[in-house]
This record gives sequence, C-alpha cells and structure tokens, in this order.
Amino acid sequence: MSEYTFLTGPADWWRQAVVYQIYPRSFADENGDGIGDLKGIISRIPYLKKLGVDAVWLSPFYPSALADGGYDVADYRDVDPRIGTLTEFDEMVNELHRNEIRIFVDIVPNHSSDLHPWFQAALKAAPGSTERERYIFRDGKGEHGEIRPSELVSHFGPTGWTRITEPDGKPGQWYMHLFAKEQPDFNWDNPEVREDFLKTLRFWSDRGVDGYRVDVAHALVKNLKGGHLPNRLAFDLEVMKNDGTDDLFDRDEVHEIYAEWRKVFNQYDPPRVAVAEAWVHANRRAAYASEKGLGQAFSFDLLGAPWRAKKFKEIIDYNLKSAKSYGSSTTWVFSNHDVIRHATRFGLPNGTNLTEWFLSPDRESKINFKQGLERARAATMLILALPGSTYLYQGEELGLHEPLNIPSERMQDPQWFRNPGKALSRDGCRVPLPWSASGTSFGFGPGGSHLPQPSWFADVAVDKQDGVEGSTLELYRQALSLRRKLQTVEELRWVNHIFNNKVVHFVRPNGWQSITNFGEKLVKLPAGNVVLTSQPLVDGKIGPNTTVWLTK
Ligand code: GLC
Repeated sequence: MSEYTFLTGPADWWRQAVVYQIYPRSFADENGDGIGDLKGIISRIPYLKKLGVDAVWLSPFYPSALADGGYDVADYRDVDPRIGTLTEFDEMVNELHRNEIRIFVDIVPNHSSDLHPWFQAALKAAPGSTERERYIFRDGKGEHGEIRPSELVSHFGPTGWTRITEPDGKPGQWYMHLFAKEQPDFNWDNPEVREDFLKTLRFWSDRGVDGYRVDVAHALVKNLKGGHLPNRLAFDLEVMKNDGTDDLFDRDEVHEIYAEWRKVFNQYDPPRVAVAEAWVHANRRAAYASEKGLGQAFSFDLLGAPWRAKKFKEIIDYNLKSAKSYGSSTTWVFSNHDVIRHATRFGLPNGTNLTEWFLSPDRESKINFKQGLERARAATMLILALPGSTYLYQGEELGLHEPLNIPSERMQDPQWFRNPGKALSRDGCRVPLPWSASGTSFGFGPGGSHLPQPSWFADVAVDKQDGVEGSTLELYRQALSLRRKLQTVEELRWVNHIFNNKVVHFVRPNGWQSITNFGEKLVKLPAGNVVLTSQPLVDGKIGPNTTVWLTK
C-alpha cells in the first residue's frame, strides 16, 4: 500500500468542505477520443488548486456501456479503458493529494450494468440458482409467464421489469430494474452482494480515496418478503411513505448496510467519509447522515427553491437546525449532472415546471439569461457563506448556462429517449467544458466532443475569464479564497430587516456577513467592510439579485 498517498488531517475535514463535482467524460480529454479522461483531470489539477476547492467528487469512471452515463457499472474495481487505467487513477490521487485536494468517488450500489460478470452469469444460470439470487429475478404471471411480475414502473420508461431469454432459447424469467433495463437491481438480501461492496470500499480506500458519494442510497432494500413485489406507478416523494416501511425506498433496514460500511470507513485514518444521494423526506435524512451511517446526506431543498428570500431562509434554517440535531453538517448544492444548470433555472420565472418548459418548442425565449446568471452568482455566494459543505458542479464557476440545442439524435440520456415527449434530457449539463475560446472543442480535447458544444462557449471559456475582474471564474476564485480565511464555527445569526421578504442577511460568529437582495429595490449596505460583491454596488447600495460579503 505504500505506493499510494494518503492525506492526513482532522477527521472532520469534510464538515465545511467545498467539493467540486467532475463528470469525467466531459471534463478534459487528453487522448483526443472525444471523451474526457483521467489524464485530462490530472492536467487540470493546477486549475482546481487555483479555484480553491477542498475536494473533488468524480462521477463514475468505471467500465460501462454508458447506458446511463456510467451509472451502469460493469466492474466496480477498475477504470473504463476509454477514461484511463488504475495506474493513472493512482497518479491522479497522488497529484490531487500533493495539492491538498481530497477525492470522493461515486459508488453505485443499487444496480450494476447488465454487462457485469455477475449478471452475465445469472443469464446463463438456471432460475433459482446462486447466480440469479444476486439480482431480483421472478417468474412472470399468466399461463406462460408472459405478464410482468408486478406493475412496477422504472425511472426511465414504462416498466421496471424485463424478460430474459433462458439459455435454452425460450422466453424466461423477468428481472427488476428501477432505472434502465441495462441497470439490473441487486438483491441486497444476499450476503454475497453485501460482502462484495465492502470489498469495493476497501479497494478504493486502500488506494487513498477519501470519500464516497453513494448513488440512490435509499433504494437498496426493497420489500420482497414472502413473495411480495412492489407495484409502483410513480416515484414522487408524495407517494413515498416516511416511516421506513415504504415498499421501495428509504426502508429502515437499509441502515444496517451503512452501519457495516461505517465499520470499514472507520478502519482508516482519517475515517473515510460518505454522502448519501437519498431523495427522501427531509425528516428522514438523519439516519443516512448519522455517524453510525454514511455521515452526511445531500439536501436538495435549495436546488428546487424559487428565487424568494423567505423560502431560502426557511430552507436554510431548517437544514442547519436538523443537521445539528443529528450531529452532521448540512450540504448546499444548486447544480449537478442530473439537473438543468442553475444559471438557466434562475433565468426562468419562479414556479416554472421544468419538464414542461424543456419540452416546449420555444424554451429559449422564456429564459432571461442575464437575470439567471446574476441570481446564480448571488445564490452561490450566499451558500458559500453558510455553515456546512458546498457541492459545486463543473462549469458553474464559468457561469455556464444550459446548452439547449443538442439535436435529439445526439442525446445520450436514457431519461430522454426512453420517455419520448415526457421527460427532459440531462445531456445539456453534461456537455464538455470550454477551456479556450478557440480550437477544437473549445480546448476540451484535440479530438472533438462527445456531445455538441454551442458556439457561445467561445464567450465563456476559461481563457476568456481567467484574470478578468468581474468574470464568474474570478468571482468563484475570490469567494473560495475568502471562505477559506473566513470559515468559522458552524453557527450563524439572522439579521432582521424591514424588507425581510426581500433580503437574506446573516452574520457568522467572527463577524463575516452575507446579505442578498432578492427584490427589485436597492438595499442599504450594513455597517462593515465590503470584501466581495456578486455584482457591482449601485450608488453605494445593493442592487437586485446581488449578494455582498462584509467583515468587521
Ligand atoms: C442517480 C444519478 C443519476 C443516475 C441514477 C441511476 O440519481 O445521479 O445520474 O441516472 O442515479 O444510477
């Protein structure tokens, strides 16, 4: 193990960390095959260092047929040859650590790829065999088993069951998949599955990985007792029970799994950390974030919030109080690889139904691009001043809007082409980054880009913003550098205003203040030294859609 590097330091380094999400296929491409790679990431470590992040989180880079952008994993303990090698992975971790940047990898435990050797073995084995028991195979209903075992739908299309052809060539059993049919769900009641994931966690932790983002962490255990099968037609939170007994999600038993994971994490120094992607009722996050479990859970509350001061304040207050009550720190996030970039979201009228908007033919005309970017900058400064950790998504530091003109035939997202005319595509936020205003694929790589980039990328490329006062890139750099100096104990005090429904204003115990103007009228500056503004002041006052930081 000595060839790997480990970052030591306090066990609670993650509590107020800034974590930058890299979507490896779309970050930087060194070998020119149009797909980002580990060497590309290594070459941009100086950029990440200058940006000032504490850690990076890599979305899946494992071997995969890319049926769901890599969230269909064919081998949990290797690197996709198009993205790199394990040796390059080690080199990347060493280089990140040398620069004092930690690394999270994405663990996808609910399902594998149908190309995973276990699933391939299951297809070749008989019903009831050990091989089939690692997944959820059931006989169909009807005289010849031709009717699917239950009414379960999938996230990506009509049904959560797919029928296989048995080795003798006859139509056979069905397997369950909450996502694409290329993503069969594991059977977590099987101890072999549990063991194998512990092995995976040790594998990466031994190589110096500092933390894990756990994909759909709330879905692993299903109610399959006594032949029961979930019949679900929708996955919305409104239909999910919040008492731990739901058929599919957030069942109490899932925490037995994370308690086992925690034991592995705690064998390392500092203990490995984890954050749950669990779309559960807010009151149910505690168990995922417990120190006996994963330790932290994403809060997506602000991600869906309208541009309203009262709503922001209410969400912030709730999340700070609840995280404190269970001993964790909260997370703040506006963008990731699954949602429309927040500069674009904030350019739409409050309350816009994003799917309807995306599917409308004139979607671009509904966006106020300038306002969206101003609000995104203000919102990001606001969350960066809060106690807790912040997750940033690659490209938001450039103020990128969502590329919206990807031709349908170039789209890769199964959510889009498996639900024709019903769902939005997540490809826009996955378009490769613009590093330079000119050159092939705007500096992403020498061989083009796997998703088409819009021509306006030339105006927002890294080299266009680097060193330019007022650019979004420089704003992020300044904000992160100030945050590093000003970050303090996890407390804040709200400051009341007569315009309380237009202003969010708070002070940290060391006197660091953040004030955001959500309204149209100018707001008076509070007393203190202005250290950063998301937009220039207007006549010495805070203009609309602006955040200002002050110190004593
Ligand atoms: C998570 C990922 C998403 C993926 C899904 C299935 O929600 O963030 O990208 O499609 O899980 O793995």
